[in-house]
Amino acid sequence: MNTKLTRITVALTALCGIAAVQAAGDEPIQPIKPPANINLGMAELGKKLYFDPRLSKSGFISCNSCHNLSMGGTDNLPTSIGDKWQQGPINAPTVLNSSLNVAQFWDGRAADLKEQAGGPIANPGEMAFSHTLAVGVLESIPGYVREFKQVFGKDKIDIEQVTAAIAEFEKTLVTPNSRFDQWLLGKKDALTKDELEGYKLFKDSGCVACHHGEAVGGTSFQKMGLVEPYKTTAAAQGRADVTKKDADRMMFKVPTLRNVELTYPYFHDGAYWTLKEAVDIMGRLQLGKKFSEQENAKIVAFLKTLTGDQPNFQLPILPPSSDQTPRPTPFGK
Ligand code: HEC
Ligand code: HEC
Repeated sequence: MNTKLTRITVALTALCGIAAVQAAGDEPIQPIKPPANINLGMAELGKKLYFDPRLSKSGFISCNSCHNLSMGGTDNLPTSIGDKWQQGPINAPTVLNSSLNVAQFWDGRAADLKEQAGGPIANPGEMAFSHTLAVGVLESIPGYVREFKQVFGKDKIDIEQVTAAIAEFEKTLVTPNSRFDQWLLGKKDALTKDELEGYKLFKDSGCVACHHGEAVGGTSFQKMGLVEPYKTTAAAQGRADVTKKDADRMMFKVPTLRNVELTYPYFHDGAYWTLKEAVDIMGRLQLGKKFSEQENAKIVAFLKTLTGDQPNFQLPILPPSSDQTPRPTPFGK
């Protein structure tokens, strides 16, 4: 656009009060919208289930054990600790903003949050229970029986209701109002000069080809090690584990960069603890670009502006077990 036109546009949009909307519209990253169309009763129930370790064999592991909402929706470990202290095969991604993902898991093997939520309960390396046993536990707890009936209007609890409720709760776990979003929405002093320069580097170097949209990622599967191969001892092959196609080897879901300051360590193998390293690796392996110390620091500064409002609610109090509730088996058997 020539300068005269720009000036006119700026004047006009400022006049109409839509400058912010226009500015955001032109950027490859969009502000996160607050959650909408939430079934509040179902989300409340889902919140309890999310925090309830009785959905695991040990009675000790809940969704929140590995996706800790006090720590950016992750466990801040390279790979998670599952039933009987088993070492998990892959880094736990954040649950924050996961409703914005094109599919769930690093390899996208679950289509949506509802399908995903059934996985960990029955995964022998995670909560190590079965759907039947989990539902049996819930059926034995009068507080849950009442609440499920209120929410779903059915006489019996089933796993579909359990996963629907958890997914509804997860839809509330979005993080709007980061400083970067404030900037997108027109608050021009929300970012420092270095942070803005970092964003410009992020755009101009090509990071946005893969990390864009509301979640700054989560929209596609891309090869890890596009220009230079990624060295790792982790067995995961990404999309190829689902499709069995050679062409899909090392194709991982592009992770969201929202709240990335909180979700270390990084990459599917959780091998890198600092954003400095992650940015350096991305530059070299995905773009064939070596950033200077200064450039790297600016991109890191920009990434830290993506931390939004964290979920803010009262810790749910879980209904107590009854005399009939099957007892947990924390130490095997
Ligand atoms: C023992 C640790 C552990 C527990 C418990 C656990 N998860 Fe996960 N979760 C993981 C790991 C590891 C992954 C990544 C697995 C993969 O991609 O193959 C994951 C992936 C996810 C994802 C996908 C996120 C994305 O960006 O792809 C969601 C959503 C999720 N978990 C929600 C839950 C819910 C809901 C529960 C409880 C029912 C739960 N998790 C219990 C470790 C855990
Ligand atoms: C060709 C696509 C592509 C480009 C370009 C790209 N990334 Fe990535 N990015 C990915 C993928 C895929 C992953 C996950 C790889 C893995 O874990 O094995 C990732 C992971 C990351 C992570 C770690 C996030 C986490 O939670 O583990 C950061 C940080 C990151 N990218 C930043 C950047 C920056 C900064 C740039 C530009 C210098 C960039 N990326 C360019 C695809 C890309």
